[in-house]
Amino acid sequence: MITCDNGVFLLKTDAFSALFRVSPHGQLEHLHFGAPVEASDAAALACKPGLGWGGAIAYDESNGTCLDVLPWEWSGAGRGDFRESPICLEEGPTDFCYAAHRIHRGIVPMTTGLPQARGEAETLEITLRQTDGLELTLYWTLFGGVLTRRAVLKNGTAAPVHVTKLMSFCLDLPGCFTMTTLDGGWIAEAHRHDTPVGPARVVNESVTGFSSNRHNPGFLLWEDAGEDHGRVYGFNLVWSGNHYSAAQQSLQGLTRVMGGVSPDHFRRTLQPGECLETPEAVLAWSDKGFNGLSRQMHDFVNGHIVPPAWQYRERPIVFNSWEGCGFDFTQNRLVELARQAAGLGCELFVLDDGWFGRRKDDRAGLGDYWVNKKKLPEGLAGLAEKIRAQGLEFGLWFEPEAVNPDSDLYRAHPDWTLTDGLPPLLGRHELLLDLTKPEVRDYIVENVSAVLDSAPISYVKWDMNRHSVALGAKAYDYILGLYEVLGRIFGPRPEILLESCSSGGNRFDLGMLCFGPQIWCSDDTDPIERLDIQGGLSYLYPQSTFGAHVSAAPHAQTLRTTPLSTRGNVSFFGCLGYELDLKNLLPVEEVEIRNQTEFYKANRLCLQFGRFSRQSAADGTVWQVSREGKHIAGVFHRLQHAAPGYEGLRMTGLKPGARYRVTSRLQKLRVGQFGGLVSHISPIPINPNGLLLRTADRRYGMEDGQEQFTASGAALLSGVMLQPRFTGTGYDKTLRLQGDFSAYLYTAEEETP
Ligand code: GLA
Repeated sequence: MITCDNGVFLLKTDAFSALFRVSPHGQLEHLHFGAPVEASDAAALACKPGLGWGGAIAYDESNGTCLDVLPWEWSGAGRGDFRESPICLEEGPTDFCYAAHRIHRGIVPMTTGLPQARGEAETLEITLRQTDGLELTLYWTLFGGVLTRRAVLKNGTAAPVHVTKLMSFCLDLPGCFTMTTLDGGWIAEAHRHDTPVGPARVVNESVTGFSSNRHNPGFLLWEDAGEDHGRVYGFNLVWSGNHYSAAQQSLQGLTRVMGGVSPDHFRRTLQPGECLETPEAVLAWSDKGFNGLSRQMHDFVNGHIVPPAWQYRERPIVFNSWEGCGFDFTQNRLVELARQAAGLGCELFVLDDGWFGRRKDDRAGLGDYWVNKKKLPEGLAGLAEKIRAQGLEFGLWFEPEAVNPDSDLYRAHPDWTLTDGLPPLLGRHELLLDLTKPEVRDYIVENVSAVLDSAPISYVKWDMNRHSVALGAKAYDYILGLYEVLGRIFGPRPEILLESCSSGGNRFDLGMLCFGPQIWCSDDTDPIERLDIQGGLSYLYPQSTFGAHVSAAPHAQTLRTTPLSTRGNVSFFGCLGYELDLKNLLPVEEVEIRNQTEFYKANRLCLQFGRFSRQSAADGTVWQVSREGKHIAGVFHRLQHAAPGYEGLRMTGLKPGARYRVTSRLQKLRVGQFGGLVSHISPIPINPNGLLLRTADRRYGMEDGQEQFTASGAALLSGVMLQPRFTGTGYDKTLRLQGDFSAYLYTAEEETP
């Protein structure tokens, strides 16, 4: 609900409210963002500057008004507010004052091709003006659990205006916060970092041209909060390019927070009558800790960001050729892999890199989307037909934004690459195409569309494997070009499942999710690393957006060996897939994978779309998903210590009075991992390096941590005790025997009375 009463604006849902008013001089004074309050609370919630602070510049000498000490919903520059300004014009100061407002049912569509949240909503539009005719329109769109904000600057003057910064939102929050950001790099994306916000500015920014694996655009601000308690603000941006957000506390105890496109080298000229529109920022608040905030963000992404055709729609179990084959495949090898993948329960076969042009490695061929007939003599249509005959759907990899210098495309159009005037710099042996050029966009749209229409392709992995060199306005226009291309290709093909990727999670953002419902989180599929990566992303993105694959061990990126069951158990909390050479699997591993895909299919809606929550446990991490009376908890450990103590499992979201049946997922461990210790349970001595153990290891798995019990919701909410972990005193199938990097899954289902 949005109301305006006597210059006081209230935006309110069951979850939160935002309150602000037109100040006596026309600026928008921030009053509140948090718990649902009433418009009549305005006076009580307003900051009271009293006789003010020394050193102030008076905006109005007659009554001592000073812009520097009050909280605003938007601030100008050069009029006495010395805090960071959300807008910078080369022409000088800005001071926008209220002119008019409108309340719209639904969203107000963007006009410059930026993606935006959709669905049921209400929008407040406030137009602010300067005396010179510059106009700033601010939008607040209210969805159930979140608020989005954006700004449109219109040059209503008779001369050009030069913009070097225009944020999507700005806000002054009373309080002393910690900022949580999701940072990293290739194979180490989205690790959580907490930084206290004080008088020095804390900045979360990307200048690589993309939203980046260095600093995700989303972040949190919180005071005294944990997973399940405390007040947390969440922010994100529907944008895939350079971004900037900052928080800084003033002497008066107000924290100014803002976010939008990075001003780094940004410069745009607005001719008279022209507009500049910012991407949409997402703001949320919860008093139920990080998990409460995550739920609001997750619902928003699932219900308002991902394309309508994929909202709450089950995602298939993918088999991807990359980690198993790389560039080295033939049609026969792919068909054989597909046969095995189908037998293991996979549902969609993705042919990754290497199917086009002269692409024998990553040095050549990028840009030439003609099928390599040496590898695929029957073309994509022939291959797809054979894959589909195995009962699998067919998907394909592209990297359309980039080109290798060693390619037909580059030889024909060297001028199509993105340059900065200096000698070109390669990243993964490639250059980016200049998507600000219409002929380049047309080439990509025509070529990718022709391939997609040439065979039954129901999934696309859209990759992009380097950072940009484009600075400023060109970086901005590149992203607009990308959005145009994605819209033209996938708009008419809504049934294609688009998974975007950028060397893993180098472009994991809400802008990309508006076009395709899932993103490859990371090239790092080591499950222990994924606890940090998926765990980090889960603060702001739902598990339905995570591409999460089981791969081989030792792991290609960490050299770590982990149990296959752990690799499955972590990938279950995302869109499950497999990415390894199946011909090397042992029979015992095939059985485990079949168990995994069966479990996943039986619980898919809960795993992909259930309410997700995190808990930190004494010796690891617990993730839980819940949907329609079913709750699945994953208990993950890192290193095993000697004689570990009792371990409880505390679940959330259950009905205290109901009775639940709790069952551990059936998982087996390799007997080979016990080496000579096997002699402890064998009637005959066993040579740890002998044939007997090697044969047993191939074929037989030992049951691990099996348990089943019933308990009331109240007991599960308070914490029930799990079967012990191995304490060095004997072996039993109820013990949890995995040792290091173990993971166990427990399903609690409500019993019908
Ligand atoms: C990137 C992706 C990988 C794979 C390769 C193919 O690194 O992140 O998943 O698709 O490209 O070249």
